[in-house]
Amino acid sequence: MLRDRLTNESQQNNAAVRNANGSVIHAENIKKIYGDIAAVDGISFSVEPGETYGLLGPNGAGKTTTMRMLSGLSPVNSGSISVAGVDVVKDNRGVREVMGVVTQHDGLDNGLTVFQNLFLHGFLAGLSRKESKNRSHEVLEFFGLRDRSKSNVYELSGGMKRRLAIARSMMTNPSVIVMDEPSTGLDPQSRNRVWEELAVLKDSGVTVLLSTHYMEEATILCDRLSIMDHGVILDEGTPDQMIERHAPKEVAQLRVTPTSLRTVRDYLNERDITFREVGALVSVTGANGERPDLSGLEDTDGVRTSYRAGNLEDVFLAITGRELRDE
Ligand SMILES: Nc1ncnc2c1ncn2[C@@H]1O[C@H](COP(=O)(O)OP(=O)(O)OP(=O)(O)O)[C@@H](O)[C@H]1O
Ligand SMILES: [Mg+2]
Repeated sequence: MLRDRLTNESQQNNAAVRNANGSVIHAENIKKIYGDIAAVDGISFSVEPGETYGLLGPNGAGKTTTMRMLSGLSPVNSGSISVAGVDVVKDNRGVREVMGVVTQHDGLDNGLTVFQNLFLHGFLAGLSRKESKNRSHEVLEFFGLRDRSKSNVYELSGGMKRRLAIARSMMTNPSVIVMDEPSTGLDPQSRNRVWEELAVLKDSGVTVLLSTHYMEEATILCDRLSIMDHGVILDEGTPDQMIERHAPKEVAQLRVTPTSLRTVRDYLNERDITFREVGALVSVTGANGERPDLSGLEDTDGVRTSYRAGNLEDVFLAITGRELRDE
């Protein structure tokens, strides 16, 4: 029932919140300089109504800086941003009326209860006491936090805090939400729960921009994504397009015991086969991304070989030369 209501509300909102070019978020050549560092160095992208769009990048890539500029929390040095018809460069307060924001660090008030955090946020954002109270109960139910409404925030687990931060961003029923690493630091079970809830929000028509270090998160949630590093966007597309463009079709994974490692390295080096070692795992790609010929290693003791399809992690490595990190 609540889900239906959220759906209806968001659909109504979506009808009214487009920019002139039909998008919900449009950033054009935005820049942010800190001293000698161009934290964001002239990036452009658009997020369409109802889309979930991901910003992927390693530490320091410029994801948080981008999101802070989009949500009016940090002025741009140059460039233009429209969010739901609001010119964010000119009206950095107006954007907060249409956008929900989940920051990288939750920003919850530890001295207040779960309910009070929600209520206060809604009230300060302009809801009446009654509206804010009703809405608090709705989002508590939606995020499965109703039985924790009287808990103090410091008593919550990391996963619950993250869900409360997302719940709080929904208080004003925004049609667009910006989330900076919604599931970083959570255990797999809490992360799955966050993903399920984000999937429901997405189904309800909310437009979401999220940043992440998790390839799996991007694969599951994002309709489109861009990969950033050093303040620039290196490429943009749907997860499938990115994999098609940049990842090998198949990657062989060899689990190798220490005594066999030398044999494996020699075999691959002699044949000019590309490989990467991470601990006991050797990842091998063949020429043109096809399955590599490892027939000569079949009878080697201490080598177990399996194959997997290319994924976003491979894309990331191919175009940034770096691994996605989880911090
Ligand atoms: N307030 C600031 N003052 C000076 N430099 C800053 C400031 N905020 C960010 N930076 C710098 O800008 C660059 C981009 O930082 P940003 O926080 O946007 O990266 P990020 O992609 O969000 O990284 P992470 O994955 O670690 O959260 C970094 O080099 C960072 O040191
Ligand atoms: Mg960040």
